Amino acid sequence: NDSSTLRKGLMEIDKACSPPPEDYTKEISRRRNFAIISHPDAGKTTLTEKLLLYGGAIHEAGAVKARRAARHATSDWMDLEKQRGISITSTALVFETEGHQVTLLDTPGHQDFGEDTYRTLAAADNAVMLIDAGKGLEPQTRKLFEVCRMRKLPIFTFINKMDRPALEALELLDEIEKEFGLSTHAVNWPIGSGDRFMGLYYRPKDEVHLFEKDQSHGSKEATVCVLSWGNPLLKERIPEDLYQQLEEEIELLDAVAPSLELEKIHEGELTPVFFGSAMNNFGVKLFLDSFLKYAQQPGPHMADVGLIEPNYPEFTGFVFKLQANMDPKHRDKVAFVRVCSGQFTKGMKVQLARTGKQVALTRPQKMFAQDRMTVETGFAGDVIGLNNPNTFAIGDTIYTGTRIVFPGIPSFSPELFSYMRNPNPSKYKQFQKGLTELLGEGAVQVLYSVDSGRTDPILAAVGQLQFEVLQYRMLSEYGVEVQLEPLGYSVARWVTGGWPALQRVGKLYNCATVKDWWGRPVLLFRNEWSVSQLKAESSEIGELAPYALPP
Ligand code: G4P
Repeated sequence: NDSSTLRKGLMEIDKACSPPPEDYTKEISRRRNFAIISHPDAGKTTLTEKLLLYGGAIHEAGAVKARRAARHATSDWMDLEKQRGISITSTALVFETEGHQVTLLDTPGHQDFGEDTYRTLAAADNAVMLIDAGKGLEPQTRKLFEVCRMRKLPIFTFINKMDRPALEALELLDEIEKEFGLSTHAVNWPIGSGDRFMGLYYRPKDEVHLFEKDQSHGSKEATVCVLSWGNPLLKERIPEDLYQQLEEEIELLDAVAPSLELEKIHEGELTPVFFGSAMNNFGVKLFLDSFLKYAQQPGPHMADVGLIEPNYPEFTGFVFKLQANMDPKHRDKVAFVRVCSGQFTKGMKVQLARTGKQVALTRPQKMFAQDRMTVETGFAGDVIGLNNPNTFAIGDTIYTGTRIVFPGIPSFSPELFSYMRNPNPSKYKQFQKGLTELLGEGAVQVLYSVDSGRTDPILAAVGQLQFEVLQYRMLSEYGVEVQLEPLGYSVARWVTGGWPALQRVGKLYNCATVKDWWGRPVLLFRNEWSVSQLKAESSEIGELAPYALPP
């Protein structure tokens, strides 16, 4: 009877929907949000900062990094953070530019790569794929791209570090097309690379933007000389070989490359491509302007009752991330909520779908770099930080009006596995409490062995740091010194057909059978090769899924 429930739900929503308040529509249409996907070192921190510079949110670059460093000096919250010299916390940065409200969802990116990086993409309407021009596609970008594809997110490609030795621009486009099956449309085109990187050809206007090196080392906006194609000065400014190459390549692109179709961008089938050097501010402004023009405004979200449009007048949203101890002075937890519809107001009362309880959303915050500001109101597309200790779990739906539930956020295929042992039996209670709370927060996934008889929980994560943070927090917050015993597996697959499918195939070799928190069967493999081998030898096992939604 799913369809009649669905119809009933939709009817109620339709009733409530007419007519959508006009100011919602106006607010939604000026909002754009995105997350950057990249491999460490491609320049995400640098690009973030330069986007803030060109977005008018900061006046001099260097501030974000400097503030991050200053925080290391003063923060006492996590010695681990200091030891590793990295930033574990991350934020949603908001800035206003050219009539738009832009939210940059900062995905943790370094050694701290973890499930949060994936989850952040669940809250984004657009992704910026940042690529190092000298390296092309790299592993972390590939993994994150898969999540974008699953969500059909529009992808904007920024090819960075053109001031360094770079692969051929055509070769880079080819790599994206072949490997990701994604059509490309170069919006601008580089003139030279490395020491000879002179500027960009901006195709929509047939203009050449030539960069002038200045003394600010990228802390101020770059000076650019804009000349239209055909201006005789160009031949004086651009060396003959580069000019000729540019002419040929533009001709080729115009002849064979797909045109820029907004619909295809929004379907995640075509990526607009930009070249530049974030460090030198080259190409950042062209990128930001085009991004604002082509990016998708906050869209609808599928819920149990059907699509929730952003201008549905009731407030709805979901928790995509929980973060503990962001502020060293208050050992608190912040739940990050993506607003999907209606209007958020400070102090409003909402229903929490999982528990059916009412929650007052007090002390809501938006983030600007490391600073917090209290938010009074918010609309679809916004990200709001809520301080309601231990109220929320990852994937929670909150709403006003008719009950709706958004599907949870998938557990992404973990790649690291480790038994967690409590060597001190007198700490049993604290151990269980810590494990349950940290699990609810989504700090790691937990699995239990089925075939070995061992009862210690198996921690599963996508990044090593998730383990270290967990170990650290078990000690500092729950007083339990846990021991970790790594397991030699690197791939997990959920058996879609459940236990009956496993029974059908009988004894399995080259993998371990475990169950997830909800008791569903999961197989652990040493590598992808063992997965294919099992599929080939025991096809009756059915589908093996790399991730699973909470039941
Ligand atoms: P990430 O967050 O993606 O890890 O990268 P991040 O911005 O920290 O940049 C990684 C390194 O690449 C930094 O150098 C940064 O200065 C450099 N970089 C970023 N964009 C460009 C660019 O357009 N051209 C060139 N040549 N380099 C770029 P670092 O030496 O590791 O750090 P720093 O001392 O410069 O801060």
